Amino acid sequence: MIQAYVIIAHSRDIYGPQAYGSDGSARGSIHPLSGKLIYTSERLLSIILEKKFHTYRIRPVPLRVNHEPSTRAQAEGETPPLWDASSQRTGSCQKRFTPWEEKRGRASQKQGLTKTSRRSIKKLNFTKEDRALGGVATIILAAGKGTRMKSDVVKVLHPILGLPMLSYPIAVSLEIKADKTIIVVGYQADQIKEKFKNPQIQFVLQKEQLGTGHAALQAVPFLKTFTGTALILCGDVPLVNAGTLREFVAAFEESPSVLSVLTTVAENPFGYGRILRSPEGWLEKIVEEKDASEKERSVREINTGIYCVRAPFLVEGLGEIGKDNAQGEYYLTDLVEIARKKGLRCSAHIVSDPVEVMGINTRVDLALANEVLRQAKSKDLMLSGVTMLDPRTTYVDQSVEVGKDTLLYPNCHLQGRTKIGERCVIEPNVKVSDSIIGNEVTLRSNSVITESKIEEGASIGPFSHLRPLSEVKTKAKIGNFVEVKKSVIGRGSKANHLTYLGDSIVGEEVNIGAGTITCNYDGFEKHPTIIGDGVFVGSNVELVAPVKVGNGSTIGAGSTITKDVPGGALAISRTKQKNIKGWSRTIKHRRKKTETGKG
Ligand code: UD1
Ligand code: CA
Repeated sequence: MIQAYVIIAHSRDIYGPQAYGSDGSARGSIHPLSGKLIYTSERLLSIILEKKFHTYRIRPVPLRVNHEPSTRAQAEGETPPLWDASSQRTGSCQKRFTPWEEKRGRASQKQGLTKTSRRSIKKLNFTKEDRALGGVATIILAAGKGTRMKSDVVKVLHPILGLPMLSYPIAVSLEIKADKTIIVVGYQADQIKEKFKNPQIQFVLQKEQLGTGHAALQAVPFLKTFTGTALILCGDVPLVNAGTLREFVAAFEESPSVLSVLTTVAENPFGYGRILRSPEGWLEKIVEEKDASEKERSVREINTGIYCVRAPFLVEGLGEIGKDNAQGEYYLTDLVEIARKKGLRCSAHIVSDPVEVMGINTRVDLALANEVLRQAKSKDLMLSGVTMLDPRTTYVDQSVEVGKDTLLYPNCHLQGRTKIGERCVIEPNVKVSDSIIGNEVTLRSNSVITESKIEEGASIGPFSHLRPLSEVKTKAKIGNFVEVKKSVIGRGSKANHLTYLGDSIVGEEVNIGAGTITCNYDGFEKHPTIIGDGVFVGSNVELVAPVKVGNGSTIGAGSTITKDVPGGALAISRTKQKNIKGWSRTIKHRRKKTETGKG
């Protein structure tokens, strides 16, 4: 009698417990270590005997359905079920199971591998416990230069909505809680590694960029003992979301295929690899634009560059890729034909929205991706309670947070790690980068704020410039044509007009008169100005740093202050005014003429 097997096994050198099914057919049940198909009970036993697993359970079960799955199902265009057998537990060897494994083991014992348990096995996709069963390792290909970008900067570091392109596939990999995230880097590898330093990420170097197949090959050392699903992503396909990938991996894991490619039907498939399917729908080949015949080019289903591959097959298959093609490169897409030659199945999983899986090759693509994300971001913000007078001209970076009931006028740019509080008003042409803005702050037109912190109820602008490391405390006011750099402006203080405050600490309730300048730079070094609470600085004062003004002092308009001012004092430094009587401009004019002898 033909027998089917389920092995559920733990191993020290692979990642978590693994489940494999075999019913003697070529239905994608693979040896977890060699990647070879498991055909016979002897083969199964030999895996056990190799003692790669330290706990295991073998469940030989008689087949209920009598068919030749690989050929019959293919003829019928069906995906043959992986676990098409009823169970009769005839033997088990068990040292240690996780409670979850144990539970499932018992359930299977009771019910046998009936439809219900089959479904429960099929469900084994992406809940936390399930993933422990095989795991997902993400490989992100990001070594290419991106020649078509015509840039000195590697393609994957070009920003989309304020974040480098590569940060999107990395974020998705972390979001789906992949067991490993391996990034293949090459061109400007050091810059990339520096930018994405993270203990959850491993980098591998592709010294020469010899093609996508060669790039994936570099990740093999990380996969040697990995038996789960390798999810291959491209650094230049940034818009794909976690939900789509979860579905893709889930569908793959319950399919009999060793490889599945994520595809879409493109309006204009130019430049993409084309998907060639068998009459039954299995994936037969992916052919690159440059290698395609005219007929193949007319196919509109395209390769998105995202794949699920059973890791052992990947490891084996990558070693067999050649470069006999129009571009003389090692094509990852050749894995499909390699699998088929071994009698293994490949499939294709369609995504309905081509934009989600678009590849970025030129700056035109980059602008499109940016626009897609910008609109999505605006929508999210509006749905979370932010008013945008004109979302078409409001530019909010991916990483920016905006509180509810904040009003964004047209053409404001909120960038980087900026956080905006609730009930703020941000007027037209304001640019805020990497800054923290409290609640009820007004940023008036044409102000630029960089790496600064503004507290509740403060008001900035119009036409203010807050340079890095400025802090404006509660209810303080920075008015028109005021520049602040590396300074703290205390609670309730005001600098309303035409002022420069650099390297200063301004206390609370201080009035800084129009045209006040802190002279912080002597040509060699920067010096601080410290102004106490309740100080009144008259208009047009120069404070020559380093200088301190004590609490409650007054500084007369037009003064040049070079010495510290004690608290409660009046400091004036200006030449004494002289009034010359009878001095009119006509007399002066006449006198001048006689003196010069002209007349
Ligand atoms: C690739 C696919 C094509 C698919 C398209 C989807 C191949 C042969 N072709 O073509 O079928 O439609 O993606 O976007 O796979 N990379 C490396 N090292 C290399 C070469 C590339 O890491 O040696 C990386 C790139 O950085 C990039 C990704 O792989 O992130 C794709 O490379 P790219 O050259 O853009 O491939 P396409 O021509 O777009
Ligand atoms: Ca590409």
